[in-house]
Amino acid sequence: LMQGAMAKVVALAPDSWMPGGEPDPLIRHQHGHVGKPVSRIDGPLKVTGAAPFAAEFPLENMVYAAIVYSRIAKGRITSLNVERAESAPGVLLVMTYRNAPRLKPAPLFMSDPKAAAGDSIPVLQDEKIYWNGQPIAIILADTQEQADHAAGLIDVAYAAEPAETDFHAAIARGTTQSQFMGQPLHDEVGDAQAAFEKAAVKIDAAYSTPRHNHNPIELHAVTLSWEGDTLRIHDAQQAVAHSAWTLGQVLDLPADKVVITSPYVGGGFGSKTLWQHQIIAAAAAKLVERPVRLMLTREGVYRTVGGRSPTEQQVALGATAEGKLTALIHRGVTAKTSHNVMPEPFILPTRSAYAAENILLDVQHVEIDMTSNTFMRAPGEAVGTFALECAMDELAEKLGIDPIELRLRNEPEKDPISGLPFSARHIDQAWRDGAERFGWSARNPLPRMHQEGEWLIGMGCATATYPYYRMPGGAARITLSRAGHATIDIAAHEMGMGTATAQTQVAAERLGLPMSHVQFNYGDSTLPGLVLAGGSQQTASIGASVIAAYNKLVAQLLALAGNDSPLAGLKQAEVGSRDGGLASLDDPSRYESYTSILSRAQRDAVVIEAEPPMPLETMHWSMHSHGAMFCEVRVNMITGEPCISRFLGSFDCGRILNPKTAASQFRGGIIMGLGLALMEEAQFDERSGRIMNPSLAEYHMPVHMDVPEIDVIWTDIPDPHTPMGARGVGEIGITGTGAAVANAIYNATGKRVRDLPITLDKLI
Ligand code: MOS
Repeated sequence: LMQGAMAKVVALAPDSWMPGGEPDPLIRHQHGHVGKPVSRIDGPLKVTGAAPFAAEFPLENMVYAAIVYSRIAKGRITSLNVERAESAPGVLLVMTYRNAPRLKPAPLFMSDPKAAAGDSIPVLQDEKIYWNGQPIAIILADTQEQADHAAGLIDVAYAAEPAETDFHAAIARGTTQSQFMGQPLHDEVGDAQAAFEKAAVKIDAAYSTPRHNHNPIELHAVTLSWEGDTLRIHDAQQAVAHSAWTLGQVLDLPADKVVITSPYVGGGFGSKTLWQHQIIAAAAAKLVERPVRLMLTREGVYRTVGGRSPTEQQVALGATAEGKLTALIHRGVTAKTSHNVMPEPFILPTRSAYAAENILLDVQHVEIDMTSNTFMRAPGEAVGTFALECAMDELAEKLGIDPIELRLRNEPEKDPISGLPFSARHIDQAWRDGAERFGWSARNPLPRMHQEGEWLIGMGCATATYPYYRMPGGAARITLSRAGHATIDIAAHEMGMGTATAQTQVAAERLGLPMSHVQFNYGDSTLPGLVLAGGSQQTASIGASVIAAYNKLVAQLLALAGNDSPLAGLKQAEVGSRDGGLASLDDPSRYESYTSILSRAQRDAVVIEAEPPMPLETMHWSMHSHGAMFCEVRVNMITGEPCISRFLGSFDCGRILNPKTAASQFRGGIIMGLGLALMEEAQFDERSGRIMNPSLAEYHMPVHMDVPEIDVIWTDIPDPHTPMGARGVGEIGITGTGAAVANAIYNATGKRVRDLPITLDKLI
């Protein structure tokens, strides 16, 4: 046992990970925490109802809010009569553009590293209307029912102006080159058009995807109060520090005067950022000098929180008779507003997908008068892989090559666009493992060959992919007590994905402590760090910050240990953690416990804060999570009803830190992908710009009856160039799923449906 413990510490070189540098020691499982299927720390609180969500914090003397939404897409308010509402029972305030305090426009996402606003439209500042559903008034009352009642008593008249609400008509009038993160969504390698013309075998197909709305089960909500000149907000957030800064800009307050906490979030998926409702509630609370609770209705979320915008995509593939891609063209159009920054970047997955000699990728957009669209789980990849991976299936069929074999024949050796080497890419293994487990060899490549009663049965597959990101996340703080307990503080988020659990495992691993001795604090903008729970990068981002703080902690402990310690003379890079203390990497017998070091130094605790290294690793390597998706579908020959009977996701996402929470992320993404494939569609009235199905009754998503048991497996091959060997797992599940379903439906029925969602009317 002792030998084992010593062998462990010898392998642990805590300073060796840096972007572009050597693999991190946690690549190896050391103390047994990382890689363990630990159940969620917050699980018991969630299932017993003890975890407080944003709309559940009771504040003394609190008032309740309701919002009134515009009914035209563009124009201005010509008359606004609020008297009936103001005199309704229990009403304390009706706030409109006439009596709202002056508010500055909100800094848009990516306009500043700290910005988190979905749109930059002035909030209740004038009579102008920018979209159908824009908030035009807030009512505060003693009870929710009184506020809701009064919301119906506001009389408003508008002067409508011509609005751009028709996607296809707007495309016909001309499109604009889209940008994403400051770069044009346009890539060219060679001459793809010419290569396509000359190709021996060709596919050229058009795919379309509809608007999607965010539907986290927890509605967007705030409970907030002004305490002097400090605004305290219980919010549902995936960017507490960003949103606090952004709200400060709107209210003209320094960032530390806005405190946002968000300990529990009932789903985010890209939607739980800063929208108008938090701004309006904060301004109204100031006027009545009382705490305010504003929970959007489900319809309110559809009106004010953006979702995924529609796309029209073309994929043209040219190949040799042997199935080598010579031309890959993926281009098309999406929609955004004039006051946000989010063209759905559907070519992102194609950039690193295949070794085509000639590539042309391009995203154009038109501007529509609608709620500002935003990030929605795998923005770009979710719908981009639908088009690309359906086209690959069509090409495979035309070539008479198995679709998995076609993909493997076009595996790139380096990134086809950037030319960078891949940090780790084992998609071939994901394909082979998945094919075997799913029983792919039983598939008949000819469509409509497998029938059971009135059901046609088919199998399909598709590639899943999502980039590795790490945003400069700011500092983490470690407090290590004399008793050998550690607290990690960072302004991160738990939206149900297991952040607190996985990070406790990682910190315990690094500090050589049992998990019970590690407390992970998050979800509070007063904590250090600027962490976005988005881009599937929060885990890597936090990990890098904690590693940096840990390294500094070790240096400080060595200084405190001094010359009387068995560790005397050792440098930080020569020391690792085990059994609640530090030990030499070369000579494990040189060990001293944290308790001993701090006792001798007469210190109760050591507090360390450190910034992570800049995320330079993505400049050295092309870094992506990978997956192979397999679907079996049954389609009813009489009703056209498609029914998913089996699904397997085979993933290559680096080291899996917690197999239990990671599997849930994969499954959750796949379920959302099944909705994208078969159900989800915001019905947007192109005459009025109004979403016509703003409810869970009319906007369909998978329920348990729609979802079979979903099998997930993974390679668990650590990525040597990420902080913990792990790449993201949060978004990849929704990618590739739409295409796997569509390809399975083709194999079952012989029908290619290139327009999502694949509803039964398209299959009859
Ligand atoms: Mo996600 S769309 O990065 O929350």
